[in-house]
Amino acid sequence: MPLERLVVEKITPAKVLFVCLGNICRSPTAHGVFRDLVLRENLDQHIEIDSAGTGDWHVGHPPDRRASRAAATRGYNLTDLVARQIAEEDFHHFDYVLAMDEQNLRDLKKMAPNSFSGTLTLFLEFAQNFSEREVPDPYYGGDHGFEHVLDLVEDASRGLLNHLRL
Ligand code: 4NP
Repeated sequence: MPLERLVVEKITPAKVLFVCLGNICRSPTAHGVFRDLVLRENLDQHIEIDSAGTGDWHVGHPPDRRASRAAATRGYNLTDLVARQIAEEDFHHFDYVLAMDEQNLRDLKKMAPNSFSGTLTLFLEFAQNFSEREVPDPYYGGDHGFEHVLDLVEDASRGLLNHLRL
């Protein structure tokens, strides 16, 4: 059986949206890390990935320099990403809307139309090696916060891909 056919059978096609507050630190990090994992596994034909913020303060901005720098030291390139605010249409398009923290999740639940039939949950529900439920906001902290975001996001990205493979 050709390899491509094997791969198609093993993955649930999915559209995944990562959401935080500003879309300049946590959700672009998740976007870049999960995108890299999906590309390395040759699954980019089957999984669509995007990120957005619940707030609009940083719309049109690139990721925070500290987030980009921390990601780059682990081999992830976030420089093409541009912040945007989530819109109701996103619930019509995406299968998975994954919130970085409980406040994001509450805000998203208020926005989600009744017709939304996808999965709206915390991203760290997919973490395998961390028991934390939230990706903490690193914006007002030091470099350590950005490293911790990457640790959590890398773990939950592997868990999410495993989930989609079942
Ligand atoms: P993010 O981090 O939600 O992970 O992108 C933040 C970015 C900006 C602000 C707060 C959090 N802000 O207050 O501007």
